[in-house]
Amino acid sequence: SKTLHFKLQEAVEEVLPTLKKDGVSVYYVSRTSNTDGVDSLLDKVDEVSTEPIPESWRSQVTFSTPALYIYTSGTTGLPKAATINHHRLWYGTGLALASGIKANDIIYTTLPLYHSAALMIGLHGCILTGATIALRSKFSASQFWDDCRKYNVTAIQYIGELLRYLCNTPQKPNDRDHKVRLALGNGLRGDVWREFIKRFGDIHIYEFYASTEGNIGFMNYPRKVGAVGRANYIQRKVVTYELIKYDVEKDEPVRDANGYCIKVPKGEVGLLICKITQLTPFNGYAGGKSQTEKKKLRDVFKKGDLYFNSGDLLMIDHEDFIYFHDRVGDTFRWKGENVATTEVADIVGLADFVQEVNVYGVPVPGHEGRIGMASIKVKENYEFNGKKLFQHITDYLPSYARPRFLRIQDTIEITGTFKHRKVTLKEEGFNPTVIKDALYFMDDKAKAYVPMTEGIYNAISNQTLKL
Ligand SMILES: *[C@@H]1O[C@H](CO)[C@@H](O)[C@H](O)[C@H]1NC(C)=O
Ligand SMILES: *[C@@H]1O[C@H](CO)[C@@H](O)[C@H](O)[C@H]1NC(C)=O
Repeated sequence: SKTLHFKLQEAVEEVLPTLKKDGVSVYYVSRTSNTDGVDSLLDKVDEVSTEPIPESWRSQVTFSTPALYIYTSGTTGLPKAATINHHRLWYGTGLALASGIKANDIIYTTLPLYHSAALMIGLHGCILTGATIALRSKFSASQFWDDCRKYNVTAIQYIGELLRYLCNTPQKPNDRDHKVRLALGNGLRGDVWREFIKRFGDIHIYEFYASTEGNIGFMNYPRKVGAVGRANYIQRKVVTYELIKYDVEKDEPVRDANGYCIKVPKGEVGLLICKITQLTPFNGYAGGKSQTEKKKLRDVFKKGDLYFNSGDLLMIDHEDFIYFHDRVGDTFRWKGENVATTEVADIVGLADFVQEVNVYGVPVPGHEGRIGMASIKVKENYEFNGKKLFQHITDYLPSYARPRFLRIQDTIEITGTFKHRKVTLKEEGFNPTVIKDALYFMDDKAKAYVPMTEGIYNAISNQTLKL
């Protein structure tokens, strides 16, 4: 809009002297400019030759030349700029090829283009395969299928909660009236996967595991529900990855008497690490030496070896299917047990009045570890029912995993890529005098979630109330 345009122009003009001092060229995406020192771009684009760019312009570009910087989302810390070189870009487009995207496909992407899946797999995948991309600037669950029908979409990209949002929309008679044949993405849970296919038709789902900066990825080509891939001979030959024992409390890998890491057997959850080699390099973060160093694990199985620490807990089952378990920061420890926040969220999310849920751990005085807390958004036209939820949670979750505190929020804060933000929630804890949202306490005697009071809070603080 015009107002926004002027706001942005003002903002740029304000810092223009600084930009100029740094030698930055500034353009407006328009055909004219009325600001001194800012040029217009579109008139130049109009005059551009349609001939291919001369090869000499890119004669210096190699696989290791940086192609892009992508900010990884700040779910657990501050965003960092990952260096994406051309080798990595090819690797990303490879996922589009592996899922069978062809020149006649039309890919629908509602993820922001600053996100690696949208940019590297979606956009660059289209350039590589000759497919067409349909973009929407913001995901809309209610518009999603209408868009797919309008643009004859055959492939969709998803991440995290997106398909769940679609399953949460009211059923429609034309739910299966579309041409979408495949979905490519990550973070889809088994229950949503089944529901999605049942409702919207036989869409081939290609779930993958990858991170923007990581040197290891998997793709679930056999389409096993809930898995992110399958360990296979060829990849094992080329890529040295392992799952190792991880101490959630200390937040570090377990070391044996000799100081080396310990591989977990099949069927057990472990931290995914992948050897840093020429074929599987880790390019690190731009200008972030200490951030880069933090992701490296040294002296893993012998002195001097070097691995990339994915920060993800995975499990490989006895049939070699690989399952994503949790991000390291998303698991907390209570009463000596590891609690995976995603698993708890899955259960809480099944209660009929729960629209969305974000689970995290909060410290309590006099206790090691963290106790479970959940932030819940209640469905429209439904009411929070503390008795019902208590019953549901005690039926399905072991006592150590049950959220002791609940916080009702109008919106669950997410990052630009649909990941839940937990940092602030963890800091705010469960103090009713600080938190303005409705707070509940899981009361075993009342067999219900009851409103949190200062009395309960104080009794927990002075440890007269045992948790
Ligand atoms: C979608 O496909 C139909 C039928 O093949 C065609 O008539 C229509 O023009 C297509 N729409 C677009 C936006 O390409
Ligand atoms: C602990 O807090 C509760 C609730 O405020 C209070 O009734 C109780 O007297 C306190 N006990 C001690 C030992 O401070």
